Amino acid sequence: MRAAPLEGNRTQLGSDGYPAGFRAALEAVLGAEGLKTGAALASLDPGIHPRNLRAGLMARPATTAATAAVLALANRHGVGVVAQGGRTGLAGGAVTRAGQLIVSLDRMNRIESVSVRARTATVEAGVTLERLEEAVRAHGLGVGIDLGARGSATIGGLVSTNAGGIDAFRYGTMRERVLGLEVVLADGRVLGEMSRVRKDNAGLALRQLFIGAEGTLGVVTRAVLALVDARRPARAALVLVAELDAAIDLVRTLEALPGVSLAAAELMSGNHLALTARALGIANVAALAPAEYALLVAVATDADTAGEERFEDLLMQGLESGRLADAVLPKNDLEARDLWRMREDWAVDRARPGGLWYDVSVPVDALAGYLAAVRVRLRAHDPTLDLYTVGHLADGNVHLTVNAEAPITARYAAIAPLIYEDLKALGGSFSAEHGIGTEKVAALEAWVGASGIGLMRAVKAVFDPAGTLNPGKVLRARASAATQGAEEDPEASGH
Ligand code: LAC
Ligand code: ZN
Repeated sequence: MRAAPLEGNRTQLGSDGYPAGFRAALEAVLGAEGLKTGAALASLDPGIHPRNLRAGLMARPATTAATAAVLALANRHGVGVVAQGGRTGLAGGAVTRAGQLIVSLDRMNRIESVSVRARTATVEAGVTLERLEEAVRAHGLGVGIDLGARGSATIGGLVSTNAGGIDAFRYGTMRERVLGLEVVLADGRVLGEMSRVRKDNAGLALRQLFIGAEGTLGVVTRAVLALVDARRPARAALVLVAELDAAIDLVRTLEALPGVSLAAAELMSGNHLALTARALGIANVAALAPAEYALLVAVATDADTAGEERFEDLLMQGLESGRLADAVLPKNDLEARDLWRMREDWAVDRARPGGLWYDVSVPVDALAGYLAAVRVRLRAHDPTLDLYTVGHLADGNVHLTVNAEAPITARYAAIAPLIYEDLKALGGSFSAEHGIGTEKVAALEAWVGASGIGLMRAVKAVFDPAGTLNPGKVLRARASAATQGAEEDPEASGH
């Protein structure tokens, strides 16, 4: 089906803010149950961006064919389409405005098959990460992706943002997990590339383009994922260090330790640790002497080796040599869970709302110097700014939160250059795992330059010539784009 040519924004809008006949046509395709509006829509959890649900009209197709029909319809009417999964994204990729159509994949939530022999799972886009993890665990397998939002984040969203998280240092980001994809294109065509093999060189790897495209090139409806060994119970420890490099060296030593398999290496700055421990009432951590950084490490050990002993010996040696300032070994599961709460809870944002989040990747050998330089730049810019850091140390992905006494949301763009200044020279990235969304549109332009943006626009034009898919996300919406309510003024959405 071809998109009808559209001219400017001249589509006649009905009293509901949508082109005449659009809503009725949607209802004919989806049935009443496939549409959500009004109180039913407003009662959903919008995620961290209240504007995620502002569009006021949500299509909930239950099949690929219905998704295709919805997209073709929206494309014909010039209605902007914003695909949504769990709405746990942090960069504004799912925000909407009046006149747009939310396409939620929440009804496409079937785990179609799990193959133990091939180590693959074939799923619909609306399956949550947690559900898939549980389903494959029953077969002795794991998804190979884990992150704090596991309970609500969906496979479609994880693919569309190329999610990373806790396991990425071992198994790569979502891009490495995806074997096959089914995508509905802007005009309703279906691109079916659901192969279940690792080696597949059938010409250009089209499916790769949709991974991390944040719904701007197509809507992911199904995926084939490569699975990994099931997660094993892991022994956690919290380690305090005066120097970041001591934590990095510990990670590398653990990775090479026989009988031990590193399961996580999550970084927290000392101020994050102190604030969160107090806020959550975790007494044994709150009582620790202040330190520059804390590392939550988790290791799975082979039952028939002395792995656990080696792990503890290594920590003891670190303490004796002074390389490690302190260590907490949880005595039971509850204490171990507390350590994870220290990392995954958002106490800093609750205590100091209106801060700014940045999500960068830095080669691990340059991370300590980078973080020290960021501190210096922030202090020189405004000594009242505070920096909190959490992240995934083993792959160098850190999340920086900048706070001041009062909310500083409006200062996102002014502070970004202080965070990004030397990243490119170091071989890092200003956008690691949270996406571009609306938040980093300008930063992307600065990062890739006019020629990079030109190439990205050319790709966008191939897949979505009318510009109806997630308008204004990742790439600025063109003034001439024939879309209703494009995100023409990407804005910071610090949280
Ligand atoms: C984290 C998410 C926010 O690492 O990426 O906590
Ligand atoms: Zn993260």
